[in-house]
Amino acid sequence: MARALLLVFTAIVALGAGHGDAFDPSPLQDFCVADPTSKVRVNGIPCKDPAAVTPDDFFFAGVDRPGGTASRRYGFTALSVQIPGLNTLGASHARVDVAPGGVFPPHYHPRASETAVVLDGTVYFGFVTSYPDNKLFAKVLRKGDVFAVPQGLVHFLYNNGTTPAALYATLSSQNPGLVLVGDVLFGSGLSDDLLAKTLLTDGETVHKIGVKFRP
Ligand SMILES: *[C@@H]1O[C@H](CO)[C@@H](O)[C@H](O)[C@H]1NC(C)=O
Repeated sequence: MARALLLVFTAIVALGAGHGDAFDPSPLQDFCVADPTSKVRVNGIPCKDPAAVTPDDFFFAGVDRPGGTASRRYGFTALSVQIPGLNTLGASHARVDVAPGGVFPPHYHPRASETAVVLDGTVYFGFVTSYPDNKLFAKVLRKGDVFAVPQGLVHFLYNNGTTPAALYATLSSQNPGLVLVGDVLFGSGLSDDLLAKTLLTDGETVHKIGVKFRP
């Protein structure tokens, strides 16, 4: 009896562990070029007929130019490099531009590690390990330098130089997710009272910060 219970317990733990891993599923075919017109719903985007796939499905032009939507608050832009042929293959790419004095503020991607190469300029780039160490790993990066960020860790970019900076980032998930630490705290409706206790300060101080994050 005890043995049977132990087996059931082991099976549950094993199932739980399998469910908890955050990597994208492995592909079952060479490629599954995204068909955005499909009405079918699957885990990802349904595949286009392989016979209709062309080289352009694996192509994206314009990464040499800044793009995306300028962040009013922070002075960065992010251009998502959309390659339909990467659907289901566990990767996504972006070009990020940071104006002099701009930041890509502390954030994390719950489902991806990240590797970024500096295309232009100089940036202060780093990540922080999890509790209890909260250890900072950061470097000043120049054109041609590459820096890696482990999955799920808070990281940031700060262009504290005088020229525009650009990076090309690769993430290890089709849907990495983005959690901006400031927004999670101040833009989510958490009460000023709770925030004051969290940040070891008073309600007036958190209210003053919070109004800038709320619409
Ligand atoms: C940017 O900040 C880093 C870290 O504080 C520092 O090492 C670097 O010298 C700064 N760069 C400039 C141009 O001030």
